[in-house]
Amino acid sequence: MVELLKKGKKTVPHHTGVGRGEYRSEALLGFVREALGGEDPAFKRIREETPKKGLPPISIGPDEGQLLSILVQACGAKKAVEVGTLAGYSACWIAAALPDDGVLHTIEFDPKHAAVARDNIKAAGLASKVTVHVGPGSEILPTLDGEGPYDLCFIDADKVNYPVYLRWAVENVRSGGLVVGDNAYLFGKVHLKPAEAGEDAPGVPAMRAFLKCLADRRYFTSCAMIPTGEGMAVAVRR
Ligand SMILES: C[S@@+](CC[C@H](N)C(=O)[O-])C[C@H]1O[C@@H](n2cnc3c(N)ncnc32)[C@H](O)[C@@H]1O
Repeated sequence: MVELLKKGKKTVPHHTGVGRGEYRSEALLGFVREALGGEDPAFKRIREETPKKGLPPISIGPDEGQLLSILVQACGAKKAVEVGTLAGYSACWIAAALPDDGVLHTIEFDPKHAAVARDNIKAAGLASKVTVHVGPGSEILPTLDGEGPYDLCFIDADKVNYPVYLRWAVENVRSGGLVVGDNAYLFGKVHLKPAEAGEDAPGVPAMRAFLKCLADRRYFTSCAMIPTGEGMAVAVRR
């Protein structure tokens, strides 16, 4: 039964999760983002110039960048892996949060995206920490085994392969390290039947398998969905 909390004259649903977040607007989020330190101008430039360079504007946003930065630092990451580089925006947030001797391997399938990312990462002054690999995640990840174990793995590429990337992460992220998956709401379709999910139908079983594995206590001690617009799933490796 829904427990109701009286707040002055307003009745607020409590403990259900439903109804929370109704305060959010672009103006409010912009205010809070700036209040919490904003976005490095070099990172902002990457985000703004991504579509001008012919790449799709599908990077994480600055709020998610701030969140990634926290996650990197909270787990004391020195070595990180990212699948899905695009123009290097999230890679810059991760790399900037790593210590000076930290390393990020980021993997991008599309050579054009990878070339733009390399330029952007260099312009942001982070090239010494970041290696951009070109190729499919499923082929590049096994080549990185030797440098592990890793402290954090951020998955933000083709949704159907999330379980493949997660299997690699289970083997290669250290105990206490983090696995983070973006778009874990699958564009609002993760709870639908595949037949109802249109072009994202193949992603439905994949994203569900991904979430099921994150919730498996044999592999992860805890997991949560951070309710960003896209849903950012986070789990701590056992
Ligand atoms: C959502 S974008 C990544 C955004 C980036 N993480 C950011 O926030 O700045 C997904 C990227 O994954 C790449 N991609 C798609 N399939 C891939 C695969 N099999 N292996 C590696 N990268 C892939 C796409 O080309 C695209 O650049």
